[in-house]
Amino acid sequence: MSKRLYIHTVGCQMNVLDSELVAAALVEAGYELVDGPGRADTILFNTCSVRQHAEDKIYSALGRLKHLKEHRPNTIIGVLGCMAQKDQAAIFRRAAHVDLVVGPGQLSRLPAILEEVAARRGPRLEVGLDGMAQIQGERKAGVPLLGTSSVVPKGGASENTAWNKQWHTSDSFAADDPPRPPGLRPSSGQALVRAMFGCNQRCTYCIVPRVRGPEQSRPAAEIVAEVRRLVDQGCLEVTLLGQTVNRYSDRSQGRRLRLADLLARLDCVDGLRRLRFVTNHPRYMTADLLAAVRDLPKVSPYLHVPAQSGSNRILRRMRRGHTAEAYREMLQRVRQEVPGAAVTSDFIVGFCGETEADFAQTVELVRWGRFKNSFIFKYSPRPLTPAAELFADDCPEAVKRRRNNDLLAIQNAISLEENQPFLGRRVEILVEGPSKAARRRQADGRQVVQLAGRTVCDRIVVFDGPPELAGKMVQVQIEQVDAFTLFGRLCEAAGGPNPQSQI
Ligand code: SAH
Ligand code: SF4
Ligand code: F3S
Repeated sequence: MSKRLYIHTVGCQMNVLDSELVAAALVEAGYELVDGPGRADTILFNTCSVRQHAEDKIYSALGRLKHLKEHRPNTIIGVLGCMAQKDQAAIFRRAAHVDLVVGPGQLSRLPAILEEVAARRGPRLEVGLDGMAQIQGERKAGVPLLGTSSVVPKGGASENTAWNKQWHTSDSFAADDPPRPPGLRPSSGQALVRAMFGCNQRCTYCIVPRVRGPEQSRPAAEIVAEVRRLVDQGCLEVTLLGQTVNRYSDRSQGRRLRLADLLARLDCVDGLRRLRFVTNHPRYMTADLLAAVRDLPKVSPYLHVPAQSGSNRILRRMRRGHTAEAYREMLQRVRQEVPGAAVTSDFIVGFCGETEADFAQTVELVRWGRFKNSFIFKYSPRPLTPAAELFADDCPEAVKRRRNNDLLAIQNAISLEENQPFLGRRVEILVEGPSKAARRRQADGRQVVQLAGRTVCDRIVVFDGPPELAGKMVQVQIEQVDAFTLFGRLCEAAGGPNPQSQI
């Protein structure tokens, strides 16, 4: 009997990749993917814990499935990923109809776990050892809370902490991500490739190191081999993923390889057209990396380097490891070394103790930085993070909302200005598929004509064209812009590379 699988994914690109890998493994095991929970007999949620809102949405989606489970008790419901790691058995208590809870480090065991659950040997909890209960136990025993210890031993984790143990229990796709059919990737021309797993930074607001464990780099040889396989399948663009991808460091073959070295190796892969990497930490934007972005033809001049705040007082409280001045200096170097590069950032507004004066400094940094775009988040306290332990969440929700809206309006005005020079230009884009509007129309049964793709500097371009262009590189003449999108017309003959398309 065929097993029908539905996976709902939230969170960052790491989760998108994990879901692809889970889907690939389960399709291999005989599952068929379906596009809604109603038609599925196995429903999986790949979850995110970075903000409360992301968790609330999953818990309410789980709540909505209670009824379905009552009517179809054989349906298997699973919670995967970061919230699974964070909440562990508490998920069964909040949603008794959940059959399995699997952390991001244990996803490679999913086919076997599902089989056991289906054989009525469930419910199953498969997570790293780093659970809330354990952390609480350690705190009682006086083990320093992640992020409150100023000394980070080599390798990142303190000995004997639950965090360190999780490292050893994180046996998932980190080292050897399995191949996945092209149909499971974001589009046939694109692929996400894991370069790193986990994070060693101690940003006080952030749950990610808790749920993803310490930083591990995947051996360069495996990444190169995977990229070669992907290119053989028709992939033109690869995005390397890591929470702090510019700290990539592989010593598996003696000499230490850093991100710039990895990029140089990947740049030699025949048939690959574009190479991108996210996310960068401002502290590790080294000269060799900027030189690689400037000199390697396939590396996109697109850098996501979150600043989080423009106030040194807040950056210190966030324990970001950089000042506003250091961020500006880094950005100046980027502008100098890679002229025309698109830089994007993340900001948190309403962090503990953030005053109007602190916020004004963030506004100033956004005005000065001229980011292509910024992701702006209202601070959301995360249990057991140092910030939640040490500081009061004292910025009222209404103030967070106002600062969020104000900063967004300022950023959007800049994004619009930064898009203006594209008017009348011809850009080379990698077509991803139907645009969001077209997907809506497609759902209505109407013909799909509007396509979307991205320029090399990550600008979204929307134009009319045949759906067969998905996964291909085309030239588009830009006729209209707004803050988020360039609108254009498909150029008939693709021709050779266009010098204007380089940014
Ligand atoms: N590793 C990346 C991204 C981490 S999560 C980095 O270091 O930049 C993505 C973004 O979510 C962060 O950059 C931050 O802006 C935001 N974020 C993380 N924790 C948050 C919290 N507790 N409340 C609000 N936003 C948060
Ligand atoms: Fe979180 Fe900071 Fe690590 Fe990014 S660098 S994942 S914000 S701890
Ligand atoms: Fe969320 Fe986990 Fe990514 S907490 S942002 S899905 S690493």
